[in-house]
Amino acid sequence: MRQLLPNLLVDVDPLAVYPYDARPTPPDRPWVMLNMVASVDGAIAIDGLSGGLGGPGDTQTFRAIRASCDWILVAAGTARAERYRVPRPAPDVTEVRVATGRSRAARLAVVTASVELDPSLPMFAVQEPDDELPLIITGATPPQDRVARLAGMAEFVHLDAERPSPRMVIKELHSRGASVVLAEGGPTWNGQLAEAGLIDELCLTISPHLVGGTSPGIIGHSPVSHVSGLTLERVLEHGSALFVRYVRV
Ligand SMILES: NC(=O)c1ccc[n+]([C@@H]2O[C@H](COP(=O)([O-])OP(=O)(O)OC[C@H]3O[C@@H](n4cnc5c(N)ncnc54)[C@H](OP(=O)(O)O)[C@@H]3O)[C@@H](O)[C@H]2O)c1
Repeated sequence: MRQLLPNLLVDVDPLAVYPYDARPTPPDRPWVMLNMVASVDGAIAIDGLSGGLGGPGDTQTFRAIRASCDWILVAAGTARAERYRVPRPAPDVTEVRVATGRSRAARLAVVTASVELDPSLPMFAVQEPDDELPLIITGATPPQDRVARLAGMAEFVHLDAERPSPRMVIKELHSRGASVVLAEGGPTWNGQLAEAGLIDELCLTISPHLVGGTSPGIIGHSPVSHVSGLTLERVLEHGSALFVRYVRV
């Protein structure tokens, strides 16, 4: 992988870069990073999945970005579509995590109002003894039968709202010791994070494809009332894909 900015480097390992970036913790909450892949024309999915936009470079940056956080936060639509698993990093990623003062694996949190989460999803059905249970962040009174069917496979936290706001969710993770939270989508949830002014860092893969169609962009379809500026910190390139890292101005 080549680095194009801030300076030209011919061979860069993302795992030797992303986990060492500065992420100053804001005074009252964790740093929030968002990682997404989009086609050159801004689509985030092909036939409802992001996989067709990825490639070998995306796989490398994805695991390096996951090595940089304490919690992975995903909304239920993405957890269902992408069939999320409990994060279980490869040994070289764990080594970097531990060397940078993090736990051996990031923990997964899923935000949902409906708790329409099938127990056959890999994050519930494929668990090993050392795995931490997924944390399901939901409202005060979700359907009890759906909560009950995940007993022993997930930990639940009930926030005091029908649909917890991004601030409530991030505050909950802060209370659980998070200093860096990695949001992995999807666009509906990202739009709420952006509207709440909670995106400190955007890691974006620009996939060398033209997709067209009606896919939402990375922040979904809802307008964000205050548009915040971003500073370009780094650009990597591999196989015509670009891996850009922006931080909030
Ligand atoms: N290209 C990429 O990098 C990338 C990354 C991620 C996802 N994706 C794609 O994006 C698509 C999914 O995105 P999406 O926008 O449809 O859905 P999403 O944002 O992943 O999830 C929406 C769901 O999250 C829950 N939710 C959202 N806001 C909530 C709140 N305030 N409180 C409680 N629950 C809340 C609700 O779940 P309940 O319905 O359970 O209540 C809602 O239906 C998939 O096609 C996926 O492949 C692409």
